[in-house]
Amino acid sequence: MEKRKLIIDCDPGVDDAVMLAFAAAHREKFEILAVTTVSGNQDIEKVTRNALDLTAFYGLSVPVAQGMGTPLVKEPCYAPETHGESGLGSLRLPPSQQKVTEEPAVLFMYRILKALPEGEKLTIAATGPLTNIAVLLKLFPEIKGKIREILFMGGSLCGGNVTAAAEFNFYVDPEAAGIVLHSGIPLVMCGLDVTEKCTLTRNQILKLCQSGYPAARACGDMMGFSLENTPDKYRGETSVHDVVPLMYLIYPEIFSGKTQILDVECGGGSARGAVLGGFRWWRNEEADANVYVLTEADKEKFQEYLITALYALGAAE
Ligand code: RIB
Ligand code: CA
Repeated sequence: MEKRKLIIDCDPGVDDAVMLAFAAAHREKFEILAVTTVSGNQDIEKVTRNALDLTAFYGLSVPVAQGMGTPLVKEPCYAPETHGESGLGSLRLPPSQQKVTEEPAVLFMYRILKALPEGEKLTIAATGPLTNIAVLLKLFPEIKGKIREILFMGGSLCGGNVTAAAEFNFYVDPEAAGIVLHSGIPLVMCGLDVTEKCTLTRNQILKLCQSGYPAARACGDMMGFSLENTPDKYRGETSVHDVVPLMYLIYPEIFSGKTQILDVECGGGSARGAVLGGFRWWRNEEADANVYVLTEADKEKFQEYLITALYALGAAE
């Protein structure tokens, strides 16, 4: 895999925090040009504070830009039961001295994209509601040509984890999700169909909590909070949803999926945030199918690669 220019848009958030650790452990694979934050798991101030502290803690030297504090239309809805009041479970990190960028995330992303040399494109990995990305595409539609692909954790074709129909990121901002789905940009959807097969078990988390390496221990601590404070405690394992987009970029061979034409329900009813889609070769054009939906994953390989990365990050300190 050649080194990818990457912007990470996230709402840390426990699994976003583990995703950032995974990114830091694979910095030879990514040129991370920015981490941008969006209101989602917690309010924009908390997720931005967390992004600053996490990147410093992992030794990631990268600009952090604060993004949209509310979804496009509705009010925010946070997830303290899964991520805690701080957004990082019960973990306390040393406060970073770094400040957020002067420019808000959307303008900061736009400037990075505009500055790319002729013919170069970058990849966006989005692991929160798609509000920032939607605003970027609406304000600067011509910038689509500088985006190689967008890999997003969001949506579900197998029912929701917030309502019966909707996955959290799509539930929080379905209008933004619709703008991205209809953008024509090549998309990889890492929805619940695949992320609920990408878990760590209670024993694997307990072992991380006993690690001598601060980053591995911190990630174990945060995932332990999510595991024991949600119905995942009955399952004995918890999905590390937000690692999947980056895991797919590095190890595509452990995943499989299908190309789809998707839409998202933006009404106010019980289906708000639901993803609708499919592909009928006799009715649809291949060219219109711009979303590669991941549906299967090799769970053991996912666990092996994630755990190895978390320990490797500690050893690098
Ligand atoms: O549904 C899971 C997604 O919602 C993850 O991105 C998690 O961090 C929350 O944002
Ligand atoms: Ca997230």
